[in-house]
Amino acid sequence: MTATYHIKTFGCQMNAYDSERIGELLEAQGHTAAGIDTAEIVVLNTCHIREKAAEKVYSDIGRLKASRRPSGVKPTVVVAGCVAQAEGAEIVRRAPSVDVVVGPNAYHRLPAMLRAGGGLDTDMPLASKFDALPARRSIVGASAFLTVQEGCDKFCTFCVVPYTRGAEVSRPAGALVAEARALIAGGAKELTLLGQNVNAYRAKDLGGDITLAGLIRRIAALPGLARLRYTTSHPRDMADDLIAAHADVDVLMPYLHLPVQSGSDGLLRAMNRAHTRASYLRTLDRLRAARSDIALSGDFIVGFPGETDADFDATLSIVAEVGYAQAYSFKYSPRPGTPAATMAGQVPEAVKDARLAELQAAIARSALAFNRASVGTRCDVLLDRPGRRPGQLIGKSPWLQSVFVASPAARIGDMITVDLIDAQPNSLEGAAVNPIRAAA
Ligand code: SAH
Ligand code: SF4
Ligand code: F3S
Repeated sequence: MTATYHIKTFGCQMNAYDSERIGELLEAQGHTAAGIDTAEIVVLNTCHIREKAAEKVYSDIGRLKASRRPSGVKPTVVVAGCVAQAEGAEIVRRAPSVDVVVGPNAYHRLPAMLRAGGGLDTDMPLASKFDALPARRSIVGASAFLTVQEGCDKFCTFCVVPYTRGAEVSRPAGALVAEARALIAGGAKELTLLGQNVNAYRAKDLGGDITLAGLIRRIAALPGLARLRYTTSHPRDMADDLIAAHADVDVLMPYLHLPVQSGSDGLLRAMNRAHTRASYLRTLDRLRAARSDIALSGDFIVGFPGETDADFDATLSIVAEVGYAQAYSFKYSPRPGTPAATMAGQVPEAVKDARLAELQAAIARSALAFNRASVGTRCDVLLDRPGRRPGQLIGKSPWLQSVFVASPAARIGDMITVDLIDAQPNSLEGAAVNPIRAAA
């Protein structure tokens, strides 16, 4: 029997990619998309990275199971993603009304579980789920994600990902080039290659030992692709050939998200980051030598166990030194089963709050300075969503800045050329260059 479905996605872009694939899987069964309040099947694709994200799932399950669909029945609730993987049996215990619990490596089995009326599957099978998934949609958005690598072997002491997503596994390059080709044929102009440690990508096919740089070069050569990005990278895996790709692959965008977490060597050691402040900064110098206009982004954690005022000052100073175009910052959240959760020197919540506010102000200053320096220049913008005002559209610059333009003639999915005329910390205003032309 076919039904309506809705997928609510939490967490990172890899979950967004998985949600796309789950949607395709359900549509191949004849199910059709609907809103969260009417869908007969609701999939919560969850994130376990911080406590707050994980706890949201339980309130969502409760709310959904108390509701009725237009036909009068309760929705079938599926918990997928990293909370499913980490807390599978616990979810069934705390929320017995949940119908299906399925981990990130087992969701290709979701249709069978729905047919069986429910179940729990958090296997990490050796055979790849990707081989069991249906073909990509024939029409996709102008900007599409492509997961090339999953899992993490780094074991940062604060992080659950090595436990929820398992060991580092790369997909074969041949399958990825084929999927990239299908996405471009479906309308994608921009592809973002995804992995928890995307730059640890390594495959042995297409006649060679292929690194992320080799994969980038092969995908960049596909006709019709205007922009290529990749995320998230680990500082330790910024290999020379990847940095070189930034110098001479023209569709590779001048932007890199390279999390550092802290500016203090003592904390980096306690976090098991396998890089120092100096080695991180040296990597950025090598990148800038390859591509002088590269925009940088990062992730930061404040209030990691043992963080002193001096450690935190080192974080503020690395933000000032790097001049990030944008960055994400989080209060440390102790996660069950991770080494840091039981370390001495847990930082009081009020100190975390104060540090987060100070860091976010510093990041906003840095982002504003970066955006202001773009004012007066001209660039291409790939429009991806409607703006707040009528006739206004929002898109991304090559440096991943959000640019809004008043341009009634343009449509979402168009690449247009704009003059950047004003800057905020999180966005820029652009004026479309007349007459609107599709950028090369
Ligand atoms: N592989 C990616 C994704 C990690 S999760 C990476 O290494 O960047 C994204 C970010 O969440 C991390 O970079 C880190 O800044 C943050 N994070 C991870 N665990 C956390 C925790 N326990 N508390 C607070 N922030 C955390
Ligand atoms: Fe987590 Fe560290 Fe792996 Fe990133 S590199 S996913 S922060 S363990
Ligand atoms: Fe969250 Fe899992 Fe991504 S824990 S950040 S959804 S890998």
